[in-house]
Order: sequence, then C-alpha cells, then structure tokens
Amino acid sequence: MTAAGRVLADEIARGGAIPFRRFMEVALYHPQHGYYRRRKDPFGIGGDFFTAEQLQPVFGLLMAARIRQLANAMGNPADFTVVELGAGRREMAPAFSEWRYVPVDIEAGEFPLRFRGVVFANEFFDALPVEAAIVRQGKYLERRVGFHDGRFQWETGGAVPAPIEQYLLRYGALPAAQSDDDDEDAERYRERTLVEAGTEALAWMERIAGALEEGYLFAIDYGYTRAETIRFPRGTLMSYRRHVAREDVLENPGEQDITAHVNFTALEEHGRQCGFHLESLQTLTRTLLEAGEPDQFASVLSAADAGEALRRRMQLKTMLAGMGETFRVLLARRGGGKTG
Ligand SMILES: C[S@@+](CC[C@H](N)C(=O)[O-])C[C@H]1O[C@@H](n2cnc3c(N)ncnc32)[C@H](O)[C@@H]1O
Repeated sequence: MTAAGRVLADEIARGGAIPFRRFMEVALYHPQHGYYRRRKDPFGIGGDFFTAEQLQPVFGLLMAARIRQLANAMGNPADFTVVELGAGRREMAPAFSEWRYVPVDIEAGEFPLRFRGVVFANEFFDALPVEAAIVRQGKYLERRVGFHDGRFQWETGGAVPAPIEQYLLRYGALPAAQSDDDDEDAERYRERTLVEAGTEALAWMERIAGALEEGYLFAIDYGYTRAETIRFPRGTLMSYRRHVAREDVLENPGEQDITAHVNFTALEEHGRQCGFHLESLQTLTRTLLEAGEPDQFASVLSAADAGEALRRRMQLKTMLAGMGETFRVLLARRGGGKTG
C-alpha cells in the first residue's frame, strides 16, 4: 500500500468511511505523502502528465501577449502584478518577468493581500479537493470512501450536508424533483448520476476578490457549464499516471494525480456575487488566437535557427489543434469599466 494509503486506511479504521473530499485532500496534499508534496516531479516526460505550461516558450509568449492586452485595457498601472495560482514548477516566470510576478503554490509563495493586475491559474481549480455525491430518487447522497478487502471502495452515505446540496442545486443540472417527470433526461438524471461540488473553488473566488482591487481572473481548465452537466453522468473525476488517464481515482493514493473538471457556471455566478463580471468563457484556442493574431504569430515563431523555429511551430500546432480545443479560459474582471 502507498504511504498516503496507509494514512487514509488508518483514518477509516478509526472513524469509518470518509467523505471523498478528505480522500482527495490526503492523496494530493498530505504534507509528506501527498502527490503534490512528494519529491518526485509529476510534470513532463518522466512524470504523469504534461500541462500547457511545459510548452515553452510559445505558451508563455502568447499568455504574456494576452496579459499585455489586459494591462493596456487597465491603462498600464505601474503596480500591475501577475499572481499565479498553483504555479507548479514556475515555468511562466520568464514569460511574466516584465511585471511583478508572484508565484503561489502549496509550499511556497504568499497570496498577496492587495494588488492590481491579473490572477493567472492554469490547471489550478481542477486540482482542488471536491465533494462527491450520487443522485438517488432525485436526492443528493454523499459518496464516501471505505476500505475493505485490502482496497479503497466507494460507499453511499446519507444526504449531503446543506452547503453541498445548495451548491448542487444552484450549479448542477436540475434534480428530478424540480423538473418534468416525463422528461427522459430528468428520469436518467434522477438515478445514479455522479456529481461533484467544488466548494473550495468558491472559497478561492472570495479570497481572490478580497485581494484584487482591480483586474482580471484568467483561469484555464477542463470544465463544463451547468447546461453541460448532463454530459457527465459518471461525474468528472479522473486520475493520471504515467500519461495514462484512469477512471479509478481511489487506486494508489499519493502516487497518481486526481482531478475534477471545473464547474464554470459556479465560478461565474459566485464570482458575480464577489464583484466580478464575466468577460468571456471560450476555448483556449480562441484565446491563443486573440493573443497571436495582431502580428500573425510572427514574434512567437521567430527564432534564431531553423531547428528552434520548427520546434515553436510544432508547439503552436499542439496548442491550437490539440489541448486548445479541450481547455477553456474563463476571463472575469473586477473593478474598473468593462473592456473589449
Ligand atoms: C495540475 S498542477 C498545475 C501546475 C502549473 N500551473 C502547470 O500548469 O503546470 C496544480 C497545482 O496547483 C497547486 N495547488 C493546489 N492547491 C493549492 C492551494 N490551495 N494553494 C496553492 N497551490 C495549490 C498544486 O500544488 C499544483 O502545483
């Protein structure tokens, strides 16, 4: 058993099955044995997954170009700051060096108390622990994790706590109780649909709003809107290990990544309550095009030698045609007037 697995199994032996959120918290962030706290690097060829941040310099140059447009829209304040949430290996540091850059991750970097500029978050929100629930007869029941026969197993608990129910009623597909019984989708939804509630993401929206005097949240992630919830009847929890996506998120805690797609409707609507307004929610490809179109990608693709030029062209292609279509960018503004 993995070291994080032993911590979890002991906890379950002492107090019974635990909420999935607790399982994800220990598996990813236990101070010694959590996936993101171990010494082994999860990113890149020797790790478990790639993110767009590893496609340097092209990703960095394009994100910096887009952020320059945002700084312009704010009138280029002298104290313009880029705070990166979940900065990982700090691969964006060279790209963001023209501004005050504050990388924040779990073990290093303090989230500033007050600033103007941009909060940049690439695959941050999808790494936050979530609550898991199952719909039974139109009601949300907790999905807990127990330990039997030498392995972690799902168990169904009682009704989810009130704040989770509120989250799911507000940002999930409507439960059958509120929809037409003859509707086939509603009928399917009311039995066995798996859902997640990303309440920690909402707490982060509040924290960001409390510190960002004026500027933007620029969040890139896999995700869905409320209307799209119905496309994920088995929920959106995924694991990654050695570049293979796995559906069993309870296997090997601490040794494989666990993610949950981001509910963009929740970020948008809760953000509005915190003073944000949505500028756009679009594919990463669209955002990359907005960043590169003004000079037809010339500054991004120009390189000293042919080998580097080819490498950059390939990076751009991977981004525009591959990950760009699966990732979305939420851009929300706080303070100041509306921009284009
Ligand atoms: C999937 S990784 C993405 C890293 C990087 N942005 C990239 O794209 O390569 C998620 C990162 O978020 C960080 N993270 C998770 N929870 C956090 C928290 N509460 N505060 C700061 N960082 C956190 C993790 O430690 C991890 O480095």
